Amino acid sequence: MIILGATSDISQAFVDKFLTVGNKKYSKIYLITSNPGETERISKHLLVKHKQDSEIIKFDLIQDSDYSVFDTIESDLLFCATGFLGKNTDEGLYDEINTQRIIKINYSKLVPLVSYFAKKFELKGSGTIIGLSSVAGLRGRQSNFIYGSSKAGFMIYLDGLRNYLYHKNVHVMTVLPGFMDTKMTIGLTLPKALTATPQKAAEIIYRAYKKKKNKIYVTGIWWYIMTIVKNVPEFIFKKLKM
Ligand SMILES: NC(=O)c1ccc[n+]([C@@H]2O[C@H](COP(=O)([O-])OP(=O)(O)OC[C@H]3O[C@@H](n4cnc5c(N)ncnc54)[C@H](OP(=O)(O)O)[C@@H]3O)[C@@H](O)[C@H]2O)c1
Repeated sequence: MIILGATSDISQAFVDKFLTVGNKKYSKIYLITSNPGETERISKHLLVKHKQDSEIIKFDLIQDSDYSVFDTIESDLLFCATGFLGKNTDEGLYDEINTQRIIKINYSKLVPLVSYFAKKFELKGSGTIIGLSSVAGLRGRQSNFIYGSSKAGFMIYLDGLRNYLYHKNVHVMTVLPGFMDTKMTIGLTLPKALTATPQKAAEIIYRAYKKKKNKIYVTGIWWYIMTIVKNVPEFIFKKLKM
């Protein structure tokens, strides 16, 4: 298994869920991270709790570009939780560094890396890629549309990748989380009833992975919410403050 964004709270919960209920063992889990210090703790946890070996590979999407560090990796599951929320519109719209960082981490630097692993899976003729986009990518809203547009780009990329790799026997699953209680949203006030824990997300993602689902919401209520949000006519939507 390859994890992109190893310190992500959702990644950690997914790996825990996979190793607790799954009957598959990997000789090694590849933890790809921009934060190797914090990932040491995760690696130790996997060893102590699950007797699972792992290898930490440092790769920061902003600083690093040498894919040769991944050359020897063999796997059949890629879990991509990489993401960066950045500053919301009120602080960050005219902040070029913030804008570039959001676009690079969520889309422009991430897509080539996922494609690199997709090629490995294509050559092997098997495997699953799980990619985390966001409900924020379903309609641009005034509060966070730079982030939302980068997640929309990643979602469309995953749509096309699924279509392309279907013919090569590789499955691609898109995950659309709504509000999540993770380090990404620390400091934000989120409605409790609509906010899922990483453990809940892991459970839903794992079940959907086993059923080879194509696109899922975390949690299901977000399908209803986003169906409404997507269907508000533009002449009304532009007047809303969301
Ligand atoms: N939290 C939410 O409310 C929410 C809602 C909708 C969608 N999502 C999406 O769900 C996914 C997981 O998010 P999360 O809530 O688990 O947040 P998170 O804990 O902040 O995880 C995001 C991960 O992205 C990786 N990352 C950040 N900057 C990077 C860089 N420069 N280079 C490489 N990797 C970098 C980090 O992993 P490393 O430290 O290991 O590099 C980080 O742990 C993200 O794609 C996010 O956009 C989250």
